[in-house]
Amino acid sequence: MIDFDDQVVIVTGAGNGLGKAYALEFARRGAAVVVNDLGGSVRGEGGSDAAQSVVDEIVAAGGRAAASRDSVATPEGGKAIVDTAIEAFGRVDVVVNNAGILRDKSFLKLEPEDLNAVLDVHLKGAFNVSQPAFATMKEQGYGRFVFTSSNAGIFGNFGQTNYGAAKAGLVGLSNVLAIEGERFNIKSNAIMPVAKTRMTEDLLGPLADLAAPEGVVPLVVFLASRDCELTHEVFSAALGRYARVFIGITPGWRSEGLATAEDIAANLAQIEDQTGYIVPLSTMDELKALLG
Ligand SMILES: NC(=O)c1ccc[n+]([C@@H]2O[C@H](COP(=O)([O-])OP(=O)(O)OC[C@H]3O[C@@H](n4cnc5c(N)ncnc54)[C@H](O)[C@@H]3O)[C@@H](O)[C@H]2O)c1
Repeated sequence: MIDFDDQVVIVTGAGNGLGKAYALEFARRGAAVVVNDLGGSVRGEGGSDAAQSVVDEIVAAGGRAAASRDSVATPEGGKAIVDTAIEAFGRVDVVVNNAGILRDKSFLKLEPEDLNAVLDVHLKGAFNVSQPAFATMKEQGYGRFVFTSSNAGIFGNFGQTNYGAAKAGLVGLSNVLAIEGERFNIKSNAIMPVAKTRMTEDLLGPLADLAAPEGVVPLVVFLASRDCELTHEVFSAALGRYARVFIGITPGWRSEGLATAEDIAANLAQIEDQTGYIVPLSTMDELKALLG
């Protein structure tokens, strides 16, 4: 059985939805959990004691947990969340970057504030929590990060330029942390969940009933565990289907001498041909394939 005995797990945005489901399961499997949530609306407005309610539920079931109402959206908030873990439980083994909000609008209607709020919570929020956590994990020589991306960011979805940009950015952040963390036994992976929560219940329609948050939990628990040797990967968990998502590059077409725009047009079929694609794990990987 995968357990988290003697480990400390931070879950951001754990007052509701997916984060709450992760926090309950980590605690059930022996982790001391920092339940972070400022308790606002789906748009990120207001605040409540959502984090404390989840802590109360964990403690009532015999588990260990501490609440944090700090916002991930500032560097001070991120540091306070990590400090909560260290003050309450002495270390940080896992960070699940899950906090999120929505400000959906079609591109031309999007206000700068809708972009900033979404980038602040998702992309900068994950950075703000992960940077102080990484420092602690480096000292410990152990750590696991799970970042929450989305099919809206990787595949695209109408009305979500702000959210999609933030969610695609999280894959880049995770990939670089995977590379920088390698020497310290720090693994970093990203997920693309689909689940019925207050964020999505109006969007999923009839599919909602097939998409319990508990269906995403096993993937996150595995990626966060000592058993997980994977790093630098992205996984989808949707309606009971678990799958790897990857960014690959085709062998492409090689020009002799400087190519012209007409050469590109003439060789498009070969440029796009996916036969023999590779999935580089760093820029060096790509260059090796290019030069080799
Ligand atoms: N539900 C899905 O199908 C789905 C699909 C793709 C991605 N996601 C992502 O999964 C994550 C969890 O979403 P959910 O569906 O459970 O929604 P949710 O609204 O139930 O949970 C998000 C939580 O984040 C908290 N939060 C928001 N801003 C915060 C801040 N600044 N600091 C701390 N906490 C904050 C909210 O209060 C809320 O409790 C999000 O990142 C979301 O974008 C969800």
